[in-house]
Amino acid sequence: MKILIVFGTRPEAVKCFPVVRELSKREGTQVKVCVTAQHREILDQVLQPLGLEPNYDLNLMRPSPTLTDITSDVLKAIGEVLDAEKPDRVLVQGDTTTTMATALAAYYRRIPVGHVEAGLRSGDNYSPWPEEVNRKVVSTIANMHFAPTPEARDNLLKENIPESQIKVTGNTVIDALFEIKGRLNGLQHFHPALAPVQKALKSGNKRIIMVTSHRRENWGEGLRQICRALRTLANRGDVHIVYPVHPNPKVRDTVFAILGDHRHVSLIPPLDYLPFVELMCRSHLILTDSGGVQEEAPALGKPVLVLRTTTERPEGIASGNAILVGVDEKRIVRETERLLDDECAYRAMSQARNPYGDGNAAKRITEHVLAS
Ligand code: UD1
Ligand code: UDP
Repeated sequence: MKILIVFGTRPEAVKCFPVVRELSKREGTQVKVCVTAQHREILDQVLQPLGLEPNYDLNLMRPSPTLTDITSDVLKAIGEVLDAEKPDRVLVQGDTTTTMATALAAYYRRIPVGHVEAGLRSGDNYSPWPEEVNRKVVSTIANMHFAPTPEARDNLLKENIPESQIKVTGNTVIDALFEIKGRLNGLQHFHPALAPVQKALKSGNKRIIMVTSHRRENWGEGLRQICRALRTLANRGDVHIVYPVHPNPKVRDTVFAILGDHRHVSLIPPLDYLPFVELMCRSHLILTDSGGVQEEAPALGKPVLVLRTTTERPEGIASGNAILVGVDEKRIVRETERLLDDECAYRAMSQARNPYGDGNAAKRITEHVLAS
């Protein structure tokens, strides 16, 4: 059986890598990897350390593309790869534009599609935007739905996806996280990419707050409020904020304008996956609007405050590891200070739990794909 796995952004690379590896071990299976490179540098920051070498690299990233640009570029370029390779199955992951346009290109050629991380729903088509609709489009097309959790399976059942096509597998991000944690080898020495953080920490015994934020629906006022809240928190003087900033200029410009000059804030370039996991392990708590980080933080026992008004990942909230704090400046400060100042509240949120998987998702996905 020939299987083509297609991805294009940083989080898809993290979450596809365990599946590529597991499928490649199986005899009689031909696995081809195609990256659209909707992201370039930050995709390579995952591919290189994990030793993933794509068979096709479409190198599609361009400066300031519209959603229409990305969709049409991917649709056309992936179509050519599908016509050349004629795979028996196509696998996609998650909810990016690469994911949606690839599923559509496969559908146009009547090639069966497997969707990894199927069934996440926020219930709001504009938050996250455009991911909520991207995932619904993929669910309409796919005929293998790999739901990470029972909640995700239930969302698919509500949309009349046949039960026989849905498998609950866990999320492959936990497979990737466990693998990288195993490679970390303790935390005695800082990874060289974290040198600025190490230097900043030398000037006092501060707790690290790690931040990531890049969501489109937060661009503009939402992100400004987040950054102003971070400034207020940094002014306390007893925390150090470490923010690997997403390369999107719409994100970078806002973040640097508000936080660029603060001595208790390190704005650093995006990190390779290994030092990023190390940074999460070294953090006291995490503020993020990222999907993947919401899943990784509970497994590491790090409280996570979600900088969004909705989430398609309610499992972390139900397990007590995450709180949805939105993008209101005052609320972000209040909720963060509660965790900084109330030891009981902090302890309750910092029990490591795995609502998103047990590290064996890729094995389950592989079994189901090969049996399909
Ligand atoms: C995309 C996904 C989002 C995912 C996020 C993960 C869509 C619509 N959005 O959002 O679901 O959460 O990736 O990060 O698919 N850039 C660089 N270098 C890079 C990467 C990006 O310079 O390595 C800049 C480029 O100007 C690029 C822009 O960032 O055009 C934005 O990338 P884009 O893929 O449009 O959307 P994201 O907001 O990153
Ligand atoms: N990540 C990384 N380096 C960074 C920031 C994030 O390796 O500087 C990893 C993170 O651990 C997670 C994934 O990238 O696995 C999340 O990507 P992102 O937040 O860009 O996308 P989302 O999950 O929101 O779609």
